[in-house]
Amino acid sequence: MADTDDIREGKSYGLDTPATSAGFYLKGMDGADWGLKNRMARIFNKDSGRTVMLAFDHGFLMGPTSGLERIDLNIAPLAEHADCLMGTRGMIRTSIPASCTKPVCLRTDTGTTILTEMNHNVLISEEEAISMNVSAMAAMLSVGEAGTEAGTIANFSRLVDIGMKYSIPVMGVTAVGKDMARDARYFGMASRVCAENGASIVKTYYTEGFEKVVAACPVPVVIAGGKKLPELEALELCYNAIQCGAAGVDMGRNVFQSESPLAMMKAVKAVVHDSAKPAEAYEVFNDAMQPA
Ligand code: R5P
Repeated sequence: MADTDDIREGKSYGLDTPATSAGFYLKGMDGADWGLKNRMARIFNKDSGRTVMLAFDHGFLMGPTSGLERIDLNIAPLAEHADCLMGTRGMIRTSIPASCTKPVCLRTDTGTTILTEMNHNVLISEEEAISMNVSAMAAMLSVGEAGTEAGTIANFSRLVDIGMKYSIPVMGVTAVGKDMARDARYFGMASRVCAENGASIVKTYYTEGFEKVVAACPVPVVIAGGKKLPELEALELCYNAIQCGAAGVDMGRNVFQSESPLAMMKAVKAVVHDSAKPAEAYEVFNDAMQPA
């Protein structure tokens, strides 16, 4: 029987304080369910409204590329410095300690490698994502190639159906056909198609005219870093994207292939969360490279 002794009557009703009904701090999320917002809040810093996601899902396409030979040695030590970890189920399960409480954005589609024709992807099961306690699921959406466009959009839509059922945000990983210009027109179109199909986050590439890509996408946009650049150039890329309205980065090679991945994480965070200018962030990088 429930303990009914000493039931105290409530007295702190805050009668002078109206209940708040403020909107959510990330764009496009006001109409979202509580669970989805809560997961987004684990990924996106509440003060800056931005995120530094660490991407290490490259291996399912290209095997043990430079910097990802040993996820346990190269990536796990960086985890505490990232806002979110983006990888595949195999690498996260085997090489990221389960005691790590950073939110995970699980790469939820898989398919062919760089050795054959890319983008013929399928989705892994939703039970996998749920059992791994993920905060978001990511799948690629490719526009402009007759052989793969329909399949990737079908995958993506199905993943959003699943995400909506369980309040798990879905991140669209944009791709454009290999013969298409990698410009704001096509990345803008791929980003918009992700949003039209229910993405909660869109990942795309920075290009000239990026402000239009962001403006036409009603949910947060983060940038991939792309191929390894000299550190200052990579920081300029981040800065320019943030100036155009990006909500952060989902960056891989420019972090884990850096001379000092940890120093680069700190510098990227300075740009993303503190709006540091590239030269200031480069100082953060150089300072973090110095032995203590
Ligand atoms: C691309 O399909 C992958 O999702 C990568 O995670 C993404 O391109 C980000 O990595 P990077 O900064 O190396 O381009």
